[in-house]
Amino acid sequence: MDDLVALCKRRGFIFQSNEIYGGFQGLYDYGPLGVELKNNLKHAWWSSMVYDRDDIEGLDASILTHPDVLKHSGHENTFTDPMVDCKACKSRWKADTIENNKCPGCGSSDLTEPRPFNLMFKTNVGPIEDGSNFAYLRPETAQQIFTNFKNVLDSTARSLPFGIAQIGKAFRNEITPRNFIFRVREFEQMELEYFVKPGSDDKWHKEWVDNRIIWWTEQGIPREKLEILNVPDDDLAHYSKATVDLMYQFPHGLEELEGIANRTDFDLGSHSKNQNDLNLSSQTELNNASNSKLAVQDIETNKFIVPYVIEPSAGVDRGVLAILNEAYHVEKLEGGKERIVLSFASHLAPIKVAVIPLKKNNKELVDTAFKLKNTLQSLRLGRVVVENTGNIGKNYRKHDEIGTPLCITVDFDTLEKGTVTIRNRDTMLQEQIPLDNVSSYFKDFFLT
Ligand code: GAP
Repeated sequence: MDDLVALCKRRGFIFQSNEIYGGFQGLYDYGPLGVELKNNLKHAWWSSMVYDRDDIEGLDASILTHPDVLKHSGHENTFTDPMVDCKACKSRWKADTIENNKCPGCGSSDLTEPRPFNLMFKTNVGPIEDGSNFAYLRPETAQQIFTNFKNVLDSTARSLPFGIAQIGKAFRNEITPRNFIFRVREFEQMELEYFVKPGSDDKWHKEWVDNRIIWWTEQGIPREKLEILNVPDDDLAHYSKATVDLMYQFPHGLEELEGIANRTDFDLGSHSKNQNDLNLSSQTELNNASNSKLAVQDIETNKFIVPYVIEPSAGVDRGVLAILNEAYHVEKLEGGKERIVLSFASHLAPIKVAVIPLKKNNKELVDTAFKLKNTLQSLRLGRVVVENTGNIGKNYRKHDEIGTPLCITVDFDTLEKGTVTIRNRDTMLQEQIPLDNVSSYFKDFFLT
């Protein structure tokens, strides 16, 4: 983990947030390369969910959330972690981080009993700060999908099964944020709420678990590094009938990368109920009730159904950490040298191609390099850069370390014979090809 964190800072992937003021625990900023990697991962998810399928719509809802939403969803009462205070050093800990009844900070055993701590952040809305006008920063993107269920249904005329996908920030006031970007207080989620007929939910749950495993392998996570955990009943979230966690061997241990939950009709049911009568059982009271706000009419029976929901919910930041961890290699070279390589899947690489003029500031070479860069950039397959530093070896090392799949050298042969040298990050092999063929080489490389 330390090597990865150091590389992330050195090369501009990820920085500690608010660093010049001493840093802010549990918050990280994505630098020039980190934002590209993260955007590429989000794009891969969005493409596979929304573009490649015909049964999913997208959404981008507000982060500030009305307290009633999170009251009815159950988060006000149940979205808590057990917290323990150390009376000796006054530090606070999530109860499951305490081993042998000792404070992880000072080692004292003078600890309080665990008590629930609500993880939601609150903020004041409007100019009067009297505590009556507040909103929560959403703790999951899911709730605003449920509150928009009818809007999406009415505006798209969907029928079951169909899904609503959303990528966005979520906030949790974690008691002990830790392990770099693994557990943070501000993070992004990629969430799908997939609405199905009650009774077909178990089948769809299994289907989505299989789908998500395949997707992660396409992002460069080997199948054998993913473990399936059927969450035990007493660990299930308040809304879940069954949850499968995809566990990945992170640098600090085996932990959850994504959860796929069967949320039943819990959320749509809760948001449909009379707000003064929260004790209704959603399934019994709402089925067949045409006045249910968040129900859908069955095209075969004309009855109103509150759909069940299967929810694959992945953390973007945990995805980035897993992908960085898998991509990171230190290779031994001849002569006792080493090279550090980030072998990203090419669609995730922050920079696709570095064009390197052989000589720094040589006008003809540099102009040709920029012309080639502009041509490749116009293909819209990702970021292309020119490295006008004149040191080919150093540039190869740098671009290996940031995971650039191809480097193209523009040299005097380019000016005289119209050829360039393309060097492959993974094989380190170099080949000369005509300048005129670079666009099709580039497209073949990144599109197949
Ligand atoms: N809507 C369901 C939900 O939020 P979750 O298991 O609490 O379920 C889903 O969160 C995913 O969000 C997790 O699998 C994880 O990848 C990510 N996640 C949750 N808390 C996080 C945190 N504090 N820091 C980074 N990622 C987090």
